[in-house]
Amino acid sequence: MVGVGEAITAELLCQRPGTTTARDYERLFTAPEVQRWLRPDPMPPFNRADLERMARRDQAHWARYGYGPWVVREREGGALVGRGGLAWATVAGRRAVELPWAVVPELQNRGYATEMAAAAIGAAREAGLDQVVSLTLPDNFASRRVMEKSGLVLVGEIEHVGLPHVLYELDL
Ligand SMILES: CC(C)(COP(=O)(O)OP(=O)(O)OC[C@H]1O[C@@H](n2cnc3c(N)ncnc32)[C@H](O)[C@@H]1OP(=O)(O)O)[C@@H](O)C(=O)NCCC(=O)NCCS
Repeated sequence: MVGVGEAITAELLCQRPGTTTARDYERLFTAPEVQRWLRPDPMPPFNRADLERMARRDQAHWARYGYGPWVVREREGGALVGRGGLAWATVAGRRAVELPWAVVPELQNRGYATEMAAAAIGAAREAGLDQVVSLTLPDNFASRRVMEKSGLVLVGEIEHVGLPHVLYELDL
């Protein structure tokens, strides 16, 4: 059973954040292979308080919009895969719905981020949104590949959190 705004895909359970989310985020986002792209120098590394705040913010997002970021697990066995879903954000000075994705290092390169992205695009359509965006550091080629495989189109370079980022969009 999945609730409104949640998803089950071939391999994944994409769920609304819950009571264990802060701990799941701590494991995911303090992994060096993940953190290096989301907290690049000179940003400080994630600490427990940051990840508790992120979990609370994601829960508040759901309470406000009825959809939002997912905690993603493998259907078979329930191992933590990562974070995906939909997240309102300010991007280049305007409000946009971003597709966030991060996958624990040991489960990367199995197509999971692409599967999460397809499910998130479906959720965005169901929510009646007309566009989703994704942004990353220009040299994050794994993330850019996920954007391309998911049908997003490069629209340019922007500054985000004080660093150059590439911005991709998909009109729904
Ligand atoms: C980006 C990320 C979510 C991708 O997750 P994933 O589950 O491994 O993604 P997928 O398996 O669906 O696809 C990855 C694709 O990138 C490719 N790839 C991986 N590393 C690459 C690299 N260094 N250069 C170029 N392509 C790369 C893979 O080959 C694959 O493409 P393919 O299917 O054409 O072979 C994962 O690497 C991650 O969590 N990175 C850290 C967090 C992050 O960067 N998040 C995005 C910030 S915007």
